[in-house]
Formats: sequence, C-alpha cells, structure tokens
Amino acid sequence: MAISVSRTPLWCLLQQRANNMPSLKDLFRADPQRFTHFSASACGMLLDYSKQRIDTTAKLNLLALARQQDVESRRDAMLRGEAINHTENRAVLHTVLRLPKGESFDLKGENIAADVHKVLAQMRGFSDAVREGRWLGYTGKAIRTIVNIGIGGSDLGPQMACIALAPWSQKNLSLHFVSNVDGRHVADALANADPETTLFVVASKTFVTMETLTNARTAREWMLNHGCPADQIRQHFVALSTNVEAAAEFGIAPENVFPFWNWAGGRYSMWSAIGLSIALYVGMDRFEEMLAGAHEMDLHFAQAPLEQNLPVLMALIGVWNINFLGLQALSIAPYHQRMTRVPAYLQQLEMESNGKSVTREGQRVDYTTSPILFGEAGTNGQHAYFQLLHQGATIIPTDFIVVAEDDAGLPGHNKALLANCFAQSKAMALGKTMEEVRAELGDLPEKMLAPRVFEGNRPTSTLLLDSLTPRSLGAMIALYEHKVFVQSVIWDINAFDQWGVELGKSLAQQLISLDPAAVKEDYDSSTRGLLQAIRRRDKT
Ligand code: F6P
Repeated sequence: MAISVSRTPLWCLLQQRANNMPSLKDLFRADPQRFTHFSASACGMLLDYSKQRIDTTAKLNLLALARQQDVESRRDAMLRGEAINHTENRAVLHTVLRLPKGESFDLKGENIAADVHKVLAQMRGFSDAVREGRWLGYTGKAIRTIVNIGIGGSDLGPQMACIALAPWSQKNLSLHFVSNVDGRHVADALANADPETTLFVVASKTFVTMETLTNARTAREWMLNHGCPADQIRQHFVALSTNVEAAAEFGIAPENVFPFWNWAGGRYSMWSAIGLSIALYVGMDRFEEMLAGAHEMDLHFAQAPLEQNLPVLMALIGVWNINFLGLQALSIAPYHQRMTRVPAYLQQLEMESNGKSVTREGQRVDYTTSPILFGEAGTNGQHAYFQLLHQGATIIPTDFIVVAEDDAGLPGHNKALLANCFAQSKAMALGKTMEEVRAELGDLPEKMLAPRVFEGNRPTSTLLLDSLTPRSLGAMIALYEHKVFVQSVIWDINAFDQWGVELGKSLAQQLISLDPAAVKEDYDSSTRGLLQAIRRRDKT
C-alpha cells in the first residue's frame, strides 16, 4: 500500500508552516518587494499571488512537494502520450490538438498530429462555406442561425469561447447553445429560428448522451415538420464525435461528421472538432489563434522551471489553501463581461477532473481534493456574493481575472472596472480594523462598529491579461487545464475519468417511465413517493 502524501514529512512541515503563517498585513509589512517576489509572468499574462497567505519557506516547501510527487515526470508522461488515464486505459493528449501544422506526434505508430490537421482542414472548409453563404439550406438559402446541441464539455467550452470572442463574430450569424434535456431549452432556441436557414451542430464525444440525443431528435423532427425533405436534412445537421458510426446511425451524412479521438477528454475537447461552433462563429483563423495561444502555454508548462511555471504555481497555491489553510472553495471573478461563462467552464474543468476521493491505487484519500468552485463576472459578483467573501465566517479564496486593454472605449468604464477589481483584492487582504472604523465613525457602541470591521487576511490571486484575444483566451484556458493536472498529481488522483456521473445516468434510465409500479421493490420510499406524487398530479 502506497504511503499517502499526507503522511510524508514534507506535508507535516507545510502544515506546521501554515499553522504559524503571519497575516497578509504582516507579510506585506515585512517585505516591501512582496509583489516582485510573489508574481510571475508568461504568455502575455501576469500572475500576482502576493495576496496569498504564503511566504518563501512555504513556497519552497510546496515546490519540493511538487518534486516529491513527481510532477515533472508525470507531466512528461502525459505529454509523451502514456495512458495516464488508467481507468479507461487512455492517453491524455489535448496538447496534440494545438500542435502547429507540420509537427508530428506518434501514438502507437500513428502520426496523430497529421489526423488533427486533417480535421482542422475539414473544419476550415466547412466553416468558410457557411460563413461565406456557400452552404445552403433545403430551399437554397444561406445559413443564418447555428444551434450547438451538446452538454458538459461539448457545450461549455464552445459557449464560453464564443461569448469571450464575440467581437470577432460574423454579425449575420446568430448562435444558440442547447444543452439541457428540459424541453424549454430547445424550444426557446427554436422559437425564432427559421428552419430554412438553421444549422444544427450536434456535439457529443460519445454520441450516446441522453440529453444531446433527445435534443437532436427534437431538432430533426422540427426540421421535418417545417417542410424540410428527409433527403435534405444533411444540409442542416453536422456531428462532432469520436463515435462516427453512432452519428451515421442517427442519420448524419458521413461527410458531415467531424471526428476526434478518445485521447481528448470531454472537458478538454474545445480544441478539437468540438470547437466547430467557435470556428463557425469567429472564423477558422481566430480558432487557430486560440490553439496557438494554448500551445504557447503548453510549451511554458513543459519547459519553464517549476519556480516560474504558472500552472505549477497556481496549482500549489490551490493545494496550500485547500490542504494546509483548510479553505475548501474557490471563487472565480473575471472582471470582463465577455468572460461570464468562464466560471461555469472552470467548474466542470476543476470539479469533474479532481472531484475524486480515491488515489490511483484505489485507496480512499485522507485529504481534501478539488475546490468547490463558483463565480460570477465582476463587478456583478460584488453586489451579490462578495459580502460573504469579505466578512463571512467561511474564508473563500478568489482568483481575480482582469484584462488591461480597454476595447470598449467608453469613457470611465474601464478605469472603474479595474479600480473595483484591485480594490476588492486589497480589501480582502488587508481589511479594516476596529480602530480604523472608530476613527471614521467616532465612539459608537460596539454593535454599530463591529459589523463594519473587515478581518482581512483573505487570500486572492490576480491574473492580469494584456488583452482578451483568441490567443490569450487559449493560453488562459490551457493554464487552468495544466493547473488542474498538477493538482491531480499532488493528490495522486486520476483527473481524466468521471465515473461520478455514471450512477445518476443509469438510474435515470431506470426511472424514465416515471411509473411507480415499474421501479424495483427495494427502491427507497422517497423516490417512490416522488413518482407517486407525479402520477397523482398527472391523473387530476
Ligand atoms: O458529464 C459527463 C460527461 O461525460 C462529460 O465529461 C462530458 O463533457 C459530457 O458528459 C458530455 O458527453 P458527450 O460529449 O459524450 O455527449
């Protein structure tokens, strides 16, 4: 039985250091160059982690922990294409999806980089045809509405990126994302769509996902009911999948299937054919710039010393907060309106990857793993949940993501946005003492002063991007991907499977008739009671 990382001397040292860590106020007082000592830059972005409750000793010991856990050799094993997703016996090679043209990558004797570029060329041909009005619907009209049907990784990545990159979008194309099996979602998307000019992009790695297939069937019925001849459906449906046969069985013309491969995990797949909606919306050149940004981060991750390696530093800060300071959550606050779906995207990336409780050897971990992640674009979050971040009894670290460039160009807005962001992290770090409150308000009773005190000492990082472009978005998402991987190595878990979603899926299949009589005798009384309540309601 392997020794748990939490039983190693280094872990104990780190815990001792955490127990004695000075406050952020003292850390800043003790080191006037703290920002210089606790920040790093790469790929057009700056990571300021000086407002984390960390000192040089803790940082050095965290770097030692990364080395102890073999982060470098595990990283190299992933990048080499070893089957590190051991429960599915799969390589994890989303990095190959962003290799520049002309580079090769051998997996089991096959140059998979060449396959990737073949599909990229297919995506270019198709997206150009749609965008230039050459791809015609069943009445000979150009496509004007794109509906991406997919869920999880087949929805969140493309959706997040399309919102972020909207300034590059083609203005005569409208785009909708349908994910929920709740019929209201697809109904709303179709409400104002014109069947003659609508294209459905059915995105599903496995092509067996119940939500996606249900929505895709409804979309096909809608087309047929609106007069699309069955033999013309091919003009309105394309599929993105590793399961080319199932897509063909569904009725999608083989030439309209954009393939990808099992070595690209669902939540790591926006760089593959799954990104077709991004290419349709902003063009293939922009999509390839996004890949280039991610590739730049891949090179940084592979080559930079751990001390300056952004994904490694971010991962270690997370481990420090979660495992040693006992801070279980992470709030993501992008101060950029076009990053509104970044928190949702990262929620899947982090929580589906590292929401695990057994090690690679199958032993129950005796430490906490993935953060509980949530977030909202600033400044909106400030007027919603930030109260708890500032004064709640639970301390929640925050990643502020902020963009320097003002591409909206409206007087006053960008300065106000950035000022708010920097003010939040300063307030969380340094707070406001009773003395300061009293000096401001005078000698009021304690019950009037205490609620205005801010304890401070609440850790945050700030990730500052020069600008939000396809390239910087690609680099930023790759940064978080690699951060998640490094954490999984330290926690000794497999970040690339997701068995936790399977049980719910199979139980939903058992319950699909909603018939109380159809469920097994040993079903719990709650589930039976709920089914009976629905049955009674349907009868009235
Ligand atoms: O939620 C489980 C999951 O398998 C995710 O990992 C994946 O992104 C999503 O379902 C959708 O799967 P698919 O792309 O195969 O439809």
